[in-house]
Amino acid sequence: MAEERLKQRGHRPFERIIFPLDMPDHDEAIRYVGLLKDRVGVFKVGLELFVACGPQIIKRIQDEAPRQKIFLDIKFHDIPETMKRALRVCSTLGVDFVTVHCSEGTRALEPLVEEKGGMKILGVTVLTSTSKDDLKEVGIDIEISEPEKLVLKRAELAKRAGLDGIVCSGLEVARVKEKLGEEFLAITPGIRLLDSTIPQDDQIRIVTPFDAVVNGADYIVVGRPIRDAEDPQETASLIAEEIQKAEDYRITHKIH
Ligand code: C5P
Repeated sequence: MAEERLKQRGHRPFERIIFPLDMPDHDEAIRYVGLLKDRVGVFKVGLELFVACGPQIIKRIQDEAPRQKIFLDIKFHDIPETMKRALRVCSTLGVDFVTVHCSEGTRALEPLVEEKGGMKILGVTVLTSTSKDDLKEVGIDIEISEPEKLVLKRAELAKRAGLDGIVCSGLEVARVKEKLGEEFLAITPGIRLLDSTIPQDDQIRIVTPFDAVVNGADYIVVGRPIRDAEDPQETASLIAEEIQKAEDYRITHKIH
């Protein structure tokens, strides 16, 4: 079981860092790929870069960093047929991960599995920028208004539909793993370092890299803390060390 998990996410701590290329500019994105390709395992292409550059950015990243994985973070959310057809196109791009929102339930998620090709499909449960009050505001306020409860509910749906894993915060990941098993992938954004603050931060359900990994995250998404650091390479390396410490902690405390 542990071997299967290692195979899925890589053996070395830095391979578990996902760096989002959150920038609208092709050259700037490729500069960061060059800078960080030996310090992180996955480059994430999100809405901003994909809208600005189109699918050809994927090829450019692959040329620049052939050993790194690519995470296409489009967070699809549409009617089942549209999601299915979009997934089919994504599967031709050669990316390793793709995201879809879980909120439309298994009827929308199940048909996606047959379209995934070589990709892993991850379900977005509740965004790490969403608070309990935000959920209430949009009408999700009966019984399930605690983000953790909704995350668990949506993670269960994702697993039942045959997805490979989910995206959730480091505050919920331990419960997700406990309930759905170690092999069900958990990707955790909302990572913040102890000694730094991000101006006008939109993330709410945040944890440190150490806590995310101790709690069971397979991968952590770390954007602004690396991108805006004085020395992004050094910061990524420090985060990899923290991942190793957290994994050692899990072993000594038998959290497996
Ligand atoms: O570390 P930072 O907050 O800068 O990371 C932002 C990135 O995390 C964005 O690319 C955003 O799309 C991603 N994210 C995510 N899922 C969430 C919250 C943020 O993939 N639930």
